[in-house]
Amino acid sequence: MSLPPGFLDELRTRVTLSTVVGRKVMWDRRKSNQGKGDMWAPCPFHHEKTASFHVDDGKGFYYCFGCQAKGDVIGFVKETENVGFMEAVELLAREAGMTMPQADPKARERADRRTQLADVMEEAVKFFRMSLKTAVAENARQYLAKRGLDAAALDRFEIGFAPNSRDGILQALTGRGIAVQDLIDTGMCIKPDDGGQPYDRFRGRIMFPIRDARGRCIAFGGRSMDPNARAKYLNSPETMLFDKGRSLYNHAPARGAVGRGQPLIVAEGYMDVIALCLAGFEGAVAPLGTAITENQLNMVWQISPEPIIALDGDKAGLRAAYRLMDLSLPHLQTGRALRFALMPEGQDPDDLIRAKGPGAVQTVLDQAMPLVELLWQRETEGQNFDSPDRRAALDKRLSDALHQIKDKTLFSHYVQAIKDLRWAHFRSAPSGGFRAKPTVAKAQPTTRASALVQSQEDVAQYLREAVIAAVLIKTPQIIPEFLDELVMIDFDHADHAAILRLLVTHVPADEQAANELVSQNLGAAALENLFRQSHLSVVPTLRRAGDLEIARLTLQEELAKMATDRGLRAELNEFTSISPDELDDVMFYRLGQAADARNRATRPDQEDTAHYDLGENGARINREERDKLDALLKTITYSKKN
Ligand code: UTP
Ligand code: MN
Repeated sequence: MSLPPGFLDELRTRVTLSTVVGRKVMWDRRKSNQGKGDMWAPCPFHHEKTASFHVDDGKGFYYCFGCQAKGDVIGFVKETENVGFMEAVELLAREAGMTMPQADPKARERADRRTQLADVMEEAVKFFRMSLKTAVAENARQYLAKRGLDAAALDRFEIGFAPNSRDGILQALTGRGIAVQDLIDTGMCIKPDDGGQPYDRFRGRIMFPIRDARGRCIAFGGRSMDPNARAKYLNSPETMLFDKGRSLYNHAPARGAVGRGQPLIVAEGYMDVIALCLAGFEGAVAPLGTAITENQLNMVWQISPEPIIALDGDKAGLRAAYRLMDLSLPHLQTGRALRFALMPEGQDPDDLIRAKGPGAVQTVLDQAMPLVELLWQRETEGQNFDSPDRRAALDKRLSDALHQIKDKTLFSHYVQAIKDLRWAHFRSAPSGGFRAKPTVAKAQPTTRASALVQSQEDVAQYLREAVIAAVLIKTPQIIPEFLDELVMIDFDHADHAAILRLLVTHVPADEQAANELVSQNLGAAALENLFRQSHLSVVPTLRRAGDLEIARLTLQEELAKMATDRGLRAELNEFTSISPDELDDVMFYRLGQAADARNRATRPDQEDTAHYDLGENGARINREERDKLDALLKTITYSKKN
């Protein structure tokens, strides 16, 4: 039905947005200004306690600052009443006292024609089903049995057979009073251009009916049993009923299954969907012989916020995943995400189920990677990032991809995720160089170097931990003041972590009590190992034992530096306030920049000298002594002790 020009504008002026919205929300009276039509409420589209949902009656628009939901009054009714556009218009028109225009006669005709054609398709389903039970389908039955489909499965998926004859369906259906033109318009028969007799499109094929969201049969997929067939699968052409880019195989049953709590799985082929369903993964759908389109993406998101894309474990599968990733980036939103499950080498879901059973599929689904990891994988896989230029090029590619994301909130989260991945990968690399693993099936958190300390960063971390532990043992009196921070820090090295845990849980009164505590619980060697390390002698506190003020300052500083060393973390918190344009500079800093950040924190000449003057008793830190530690940290090349 088409609406006369101006109808929607009239409708929008007649109904007040805040009146319609007001039925679904509790206004925040203090924040709202009713007179001005400027209304605020907790958002009806996401869970929140604060009022970040804004209605502007003047503009006729709503916008949620929390979840970015936005739209006009028609959109609001669509979303909250879960109806289509026309139904929303109808509901609102009734409310506004406007009469809906009569259905456009042309559209009515088209709808009637579609209903006719859909009836023809049902007859075709019956014919193919029946044919599968006759003698001509002996091979087909054997083939299906060989593929593990029993009678129940054949019934459930309404699998049939198109006899290998020029006019099987043509004769059968015209015999039931169906017009030849209907068979042509449904794509079941082909009318040759040269004016010859129409003939069957599908011959000698296993037939899979394709039904739309409402359950109407709109097309067929036909599989040849002949391995040398020109086309393994032949699908219905586009017809009045069938728009292949807007259809999904198994759409309606999958939607039901997702409603019952099953994951939505997007597979590549008919047989994959069938095998998945039979294995208990009933939320399975597939596109129809083409790569997934934007429309199909929207369709799957209408069913589930985070569908899992199940891809064949081959190069083509991966290429399909990358293509889909690019397609989806501009459409990602909160509540519109994707995960990718890559089947094992050379297998599709059907193969995997047959080879290893449903459990194997479950494992692959459990390991499905979020889109951001797939992006990282594509941009890094098998490459070497041992030069600034290469790392810069990587940054550029990642940045370009991320900027495709239009949703601001989501964008910032993706930025964070990419930063985490960079951190995880570059951090463990010896000198900023990094060779991506051939396949990052799933990004693993970098394993902590516990016994073996490898990089400069690890060295710094190691020394700082040791200094902190030593200071606390020498002057445990200051532990209570730092308790909040001390319980939060997370040492990389098990020996240090054990000492810290003891000190924090027991809070010994003085140095002697601390020494006893540590040696009784961890053995005398623990203390020896800690203090034997030559670098500790440069810590002023340890020389002038008992000077609490210096101990405090040292501890404060080491904690701060440790936070910077671990680095990206602090910065991560900042980026949400950064506009997308600034982000390139800020987020994609290279490892060198991370090192700069560390140096800034460790280099005394750039430090705020007031930091040193904190002591009430006027105690000043001896710069030289402090510099020695810094110098040591900078130059030391760690050789593993004992
Ligand atoms: P596949 O080649 O992966 O086939 O095509 P499959 O689904 O594993 O089928 P089996 O297991 O060999 O029977 C995946 C999908 O691509 C479309 C079909 O929709 C198929 O399900 N396709 C494939 C075609 O449309 N035409 C073809 O010739 C091949
Ligand atoms: Mn297959």
